[in-house]
Amino acid sequence: MNINLNDSIRIGELKLRNRLIMAPMQQYKGTPEGFANDHHVRFYGRRANHVGLVVLESTAVSADGRLFPNDIGLFTDRHTKPLRKIADAVHASGTPVFVQLSHGGRKSSPATTKRLLAPSAVAYDDSCGQPSAMNRSDIERTIEEYRLAAARSVEAGLDGIEIHAAHGFLLHEFLSPLSNLREDEYGGSSENRARFLKEVLAAVRSETGRHYPIMIRVSATDFAAGGLTPGELGRMLKPLETEFDALDVSAGGLLPVQPADVHAGYQVPYAAALKQRLNVPVIAVGKIYTRSLADRILEDGLADAVAIARPLIEDPDYAGKMLSLEREEDRAEESANV
Ligand SMILES: Cc1cc2nc3c(=O)[nH]c(=O)nc-3n(C[C@H](O)[C@H](O)[C@H](O)COP(=O)(O)O)c2cc1C
Repeated sequence: MNINLNDSIRIGELKLRNRLIMAPMQQYKGTPEGFANDHHVRFYGRRANHVGLVVLESTAVSADGRLFPNDIGLFTDRHTKPLRKIADAVHASGTPVFVQLSHGGRKSSPATTKRLLAPSAVAYDDSCGQPSAMNRSDIERTIEEYRLAAARSVEAGLDGIEIHAAHGFLLHEFLSPLSNLREDEYGGSSENRARFLKEVLAAVRSETGRHYPIMIRVSATDFAAGGLTPGELGRMLKPLETEFDALDVSAGGLLPVQPADVHAGYQVPYAAALKQRLNVPVIAVGKIYTRSLADRILEDGLADAVAIARPLIEDPDYAGKMLSLEREEDRAEESANV
């Protein structure tokens, strides 16, 4: 039987009712202290009723790691309660909700960041400012921030965590040889560049336990010679795959370069390449806006689930329309067969 978008799927021990996921989307509407508010409760609550899973926007583990000044965070215990309100609003539709934990690294907002951190002292571009290469205590403190944010995620009633290791933010900066020029055990070989992610994952797991769903979002390519590739990323993630439950495959963001051709499903080949190398469910994202394309990706085994972002901004019912289209086609087929 062919798999389609309406089929359920498991992320770890969590069963999703279908394979259409709301991708993380910053709202740029948090308070200056990084608190979520009524906007977030309304926005996510309104979009939760059809998708199998909602992934909340990039949520900073550190006050210094916000990507934009009005990003939300989970960097103090006081940030937990507003996230619980969002979780409750999403749960009202019977839909699970993950939070995306992030640290902006060298791309953190200069407006809210006292000291920009990065694996190496290499700036993203002129507007972002010069980062400091993280020393041992910076690394330990940041890992501890991830651990505390994970504890708060559980406390907030969130159903899982997506670790943001994509789009040129701190974890991606460690993974890529273009931004990680370190000569210690966190740089050099693929294994060394994956060490920071490995330690962050272990710290998060130390709070959540093995049964709590954790996925990782990666950028499978840096769109530049000498950068990350799906092949290398697969080798880096393989030793960690027993510690996470799904991989969400995006692309780019490390350098100020754009992909040459952004057609429908343009990132699917990266998801497919990583799916071949790993034994966890893989999520494809990026201009997958039609039911037929989503089903084709699943049927052809290129990915196990599909995420959508931009169509949900304007049309909160977009996911319901994608999902019900198939049911209508089914009904038409059924009545033709009578
Ligand atoms: C307004 C906006 C905010 C976004 N914020 C995030 C984010 O917080 N974390 C993230 O990993 N990706 C973020 N993305 C990327 C989306 O999750 C998604 O990967 C991208 O938009 C491609 O999917 P789409 O073609 O369905 O929109 C954002 C995209 C948009 C348009």
